[in-house]
Amino acid sequence: MAATTLPAEMTVIEFAAPGGPDVLRPGRRPLPVPGDDEVLIRVHGAGVNRPDVLQRLGKYPPPPGAPDILGLEVAGVVVAVGRSVDRWRLGDDVCALVAGGGYAEYCVAPAVQCLPVPRGWTLLEAASIPESHFTVWTNVFERGGLRPGATLLVHGGSSGIGTTAIQFGRASGATVLATAGSAEKCAACERLGASRAINYRREDFVQVVKDATGGRGVDVVLDMVGGDYVPRNIECLAVEGRLVQIAFLKSPKAEVDLSQVMRRRLIITGSTLRPRSVTEKGAIAQSLRQHVWPWLEQKAVVPVVFQVFPMRDAAEAHRVMESGVHIGKLVLQVASATP
Ligand SMILES: NC(=O)c1ccc[n+]([C@@H]2O[C@H](COP(=O)([O-])OP(=O)(O)OC[C@H]3O[C@@H](n4cnc5c(N)ncnc54)[C@H](OP(=O)(O)O)[C@@H]3O)[C@@H](O)[C@H]2O)c1
Repeated sequence: MAATTLPAEMTVIEFAAPGGPDVLRPGRRPLPVPGDDEVLIRVHGAGVNRPDVLQRLGKYPPPPGAPDILGLEVAGVVVAVGRSVDRWRLGDDVCALVAGGGYAEYCVAPAVQCLPVPRGWTLLEAASIPESHFTVWTNVFERGGLRPGATLLVHGGSSGIGTTAIQFGRASGATVLATAGSAEKCAACERLGASRAINYRREDFVQVVKDATGGRGVDVVLDMVGGDYVPRNIECLAVEGRLVQIAFLKSPKAEVDLSQVMRRRLIITGSTLRPRSVTEKGAIAQSLRQHVWPWLEQKAVVPVVFQVFPMRDAAEAHRVMESGVHIGKLVLQVASATP
């Protein structure tokens, strides 16, 4: 293993038992050691995601082998590389998707899950990229098969995932409709490229989708709500449309009229990123580098960072996420990182 001089210990954010945001406390842990195919990153920023909140509540345990420390994405500087790693060198700026361990001064990442910081963006902005970009790419394009000229409906349009999906859809040449829960959030969705944002508290999204598409419906729905949204999403789909489920903020259970699925030859699919293999995540990383990094570097897609918090204030970041006021992403900045 090649490495710069490193401390034996680091500061992390940890929690002893599940609970409210205040269970998140700074602690000290030994530095993690990268395996042969891994790198060690001195973390500059770590993205905060909804699944972190679920894990803190004890509802989303880390997969076997993943650290118990929260944090699914980081950006920083490579300070050690495993024996088999030839694509990264000491001193490289990278952002990375990780299965845990991001809320820490140092974090191990599989080399194939690292990407260069896209030209024109800071390390803190890059820290907000991996989780939503990997998720949206694999679900909207690989599973949902979105094509230029098609129409995409994004629920939770102002979320970290939603702000990414709207921009990817638009950059790929699709027409995007989005739902959000306030006029301010709807305006943000339209600024990011939605041709029509739907305030789901005031309007029936099924009716608006039908009106906006001349009765045809949309080709792909990206949904994180579930429950009674499922039959309504099916109503929104065009012939041969695809419903892609990535979460169920309301409920994992729904009643579905299968005759609709058969008559219009619909596909209902979905996926969850975290338990997928390193090889699969590495393949998504390669697709992102090929298709999405040019969008980021041309600023056709921009990271939407709502607020940056010092890492010691992780509890406050979780309170903001649970309040639902944010538009886009929340990021933790690690105090010891050099600018
Ligand atoms: N499958 C995967 O691989 C994967 C990966 C990452 C994240 N996710 C999931 O994707 C979702 C978004 O993640 P995130 O980190 O982007 O979270 P986030 O920024 O906190 O977004 C959650 C969004 O859901 C909306 N929402 C909440 N309750 C709703 C309801 N009952 N009806 C309609 N909209 C509702 C909120 O918007 P309003 O204020 O407009 O209601 C908010 O924009 C989470 O559920 C997360 O678990 C899945």
